[in-house]
Amino acid sequence: MTFAQLWHELEPLGRDPGTGGYRRYSWTDADAQCRAWFTAQATKLGLAVEADNNGNLWAWWGDTRENAIATGSHLDSVPDGGGYDGALGVVSALAAVRMLKDKNFYPERAVVLAVFTEEEGARFRVPCLGSRLMIGAIDPGVARALTDDDGITLAEAMAAAGADASLLGPRDDLLDGMAAFVELHVEQGRALAPMDAALGLAEGIWPHGRWRLDFAGRADHAGTARLADRKDPMLPYARTVLAARRAAACNSALATFGKVIAEPGGANGVPSAVKAWLDARAPDEATLEKTVTSVRSAAERFCAEHGVTLNVRPESYTPVVRFDDALRDRLAEVLAAAGVNAPVLPTGAGHDAGVLAARVPTAMLFVRNPTGVSHSPAEHADLADCEAGVRALALVLEDLAR
Ligand code: GLV
Ligand code: MN
Ligand code: MN
Repeated sequence: MTFAQLWHELEPLGRDPGTGGYRRYSWTDADAQCRAWFTAQATKLGLAVEADNNGNLWAWWGDTRENAIATGSHLDSVPDGGGYDGALGVVSALAAVRMLKDKNFYPERAVVLAVFTEEEGARFRVPCLGSRLMIGAIDPGVARALTDDDGITLAEAMAAAGADASLLGPRDDLLDGMAAFVELHVEQGRALAPMDAALGLAEGIWPHGRWRLDFAGRADHAGTARLADRKDPMLPYARTVLAARRAAACNSALATFGKVIAEPGGANGVPSAVKAWLDARAPDEATLEKTVTSVRSAAERFCAEHGVTLNVRPESYTPVVRFDDALRDRLAEVLAAAGVNAPVLPTGAGHDAGVLAARVPTAMLFVRNPTGVSHSPAEHADLADCEAGVRALALVLEDLAR
C-alpha cells in the first residue's frame, strides 16, 4: 500500500467526531485498534511483529538481531491531538519498507519498525514511558503504580488490555542489537516553511519536564463566604499561571499550564483544591531550573497570601538531548546525494528518539508543518511533503541497512 492508502486507513481510528482530534490513549480500545492495524499492515509486508515486555511493538524485516536499523515512532496521542504526531513516523516506516521491497532491496542488517507506547504521557503522565522502561530510566515498580485520572494503575490498564505489567523492565538485549534508530516526525513549530524545505534533521531536544502543583484550600459557599474569609486555591493558582508566563518570557524558556482540575468542581462553591500541571522547557538545564524555581517561589508566595498550602513534585524530567552527529551527517549526505536539502533544527518537543539517544546512535527526520501547529486537531503536513519524507526515510534505511 502507498503512504496515502495507509494514511487513509489509520485516519479514523481514535478520532473524536466532535472535535476532529485524536484520543488514542494507551491501553484503551482506540490504542488496541491502532496496534491491531499496525500489526496487520506489518504482517502484510512480511514482517514478524512482536510486542515486547513494555508494550512496545517491533516489526522485524530480516532474521539477524544484531546491528539492526530501527525506525518508527508512536501511535498514542495527547487529548484531541493531531493526526500526524507519532502516526506520521509509523505510517512512513511502513511505506518506506513497501518502497524498498518494491525495488527488490533486501537488507543486510535487519530493519525493525517500532511503535512505542505512551509516548505522550497523556494517560499515565510520564512521557516516553515505553522507551524509558526499555532503557531502564524508570523503575518498573514505579511505572506499574502510575495512575490515570480515574485512579486506574498502569498495571491494571495493561491487564485489562491483555498485557502483563509484571514483565516491565529494561531490554539491554534489544538496545545492544540496535545499530541506529531513526525517527521520522512531523515538524512541531514552523522553521522549515520559511526556509522552503520539505524536510529537516534534528540537532537536539531541549531539556523539559512536568511538575504537579497541588494547591489545597478550604471548600466554601460561593454565595455566602466573605471574600476576606476564603481560602480559595484558585487565586494563587491563577496568579501562578501568570507568573509562569512571565518567568518563561524573562528566561527565553517555555512554561505552560495545560491541565488543571478544580475539586470538588461545583460551580457554586469555592474549590477545596486545585491540581495543576506545569510543563516547562528551556534551551539548557540551568535555564530550565531557574524558570521552574521562579514559578515555584511565586506559587509559594501567593499561597502564603491566600492561606492556601502548596505541594510541588516533579512527575517527569528529560535532560538535554544531542543527537548523534555522525549519524546525522550520514543522513544529510544521503539526502544531499538525492538533491534533498534538510536543514538542521533544534526542538522543544520530546520524542522516544531522545530517550533512546542515551543508548543508541539516534537521528530524527522532520517533515514540514506549514503552520507549525501541533498537539491540536489543526496539525498538518501536506501529502507531497509526507511522500518526500517516505522517500527520504527509504533512502536512509537503504543506506544504513545495506
Ligand atoms: C511530546 O510531544 C512532548 O513534547 O510533550
Ligand atoms: Mn506529541
Ligand atoms: Mn510525537
